Amino acid sequence: MKQNWKPGTLIYPLPAIMVSVGSEVSEHNILTVAWVGTICSDPALCYISVRPERHSHAILKKNREFVLNLTTEKLARATDWCGVRSGKDYNKFDEMGLSAGKSTIVQAPYIVESPLSIECRVKEILPLGSHDMFIAEVVNILADEKFINPATGAFEMAKAQLLVYSHGGYYGMGDFIGKFGWSVQKKK
Ligand SMILES: Cc1cc2nc3c(=O)[nH]c(=O)nc-3n(C[C@H](O)[C@H](O)[C@H](O)COP(=O)(O)O)c2cc1C
Repeated sequence: MKQNWKPGTLIYPLPAIMVSVGSEVSEHNILTVAWVGTICSDPALCYISVRPERHSHAILKKNREFVLNLTTEKLARATDWCGVRSGKDYNKFDEMGLSAGKSTIVQAPYIVESPLSIECRVKEILPLGSHDMFIAEVVNILADEKFINPATGAFEMAKAQLLVYSHGGYYGMGDFIGKFGWSVQKKK
């Protein structure tokens, strides 16, 4: 038997992403978001939903640019901390010992310690209620060479030990189950 629950946000698991913002050093900040995702493959479009009261919101609205930094088990503490402390009180890069790298296309910095950083330019801001949705185009990707297989050129995500967020908790990735399409592949 299933119970009926009142409507809520229970689509899990999700990534917990560190979003870096700010066009100049004095403005640099990081906020953690779980309301993040891909909304179109071509052009590559994604979204983040941010509450207007966040310190980062005004910076995002002014600059219309941000960087999505994938997080790892190693970055779990920084990911949580950047999601419970505000940039109006702390320099989160300094507090968490993270380095701000100069992005290729956007003014917002990327987080050097992240294995993959996705530079985004905002196309549209949709006020939805508690959150404003920033719909953005991916304009560049910065992939850490450490995770690129020199023979194939492929980015080996599994080696990055990415962080998973589910219903208030952080987890590792767990066991590999199968490749895309494995369910219909003929057994040899
Ligand atoms: C795992 C996690 C996920 C979060 N997801 C969001 C989110 O999707 N949108 C949002 O506005 N805040 C989210 N937050 C809260 C902000 O990260 C938090 O309020 C942060 O302190 C804002 O930083 P700022 O004031 O420096 O902008 C999340 C926090 C955590 C820990």
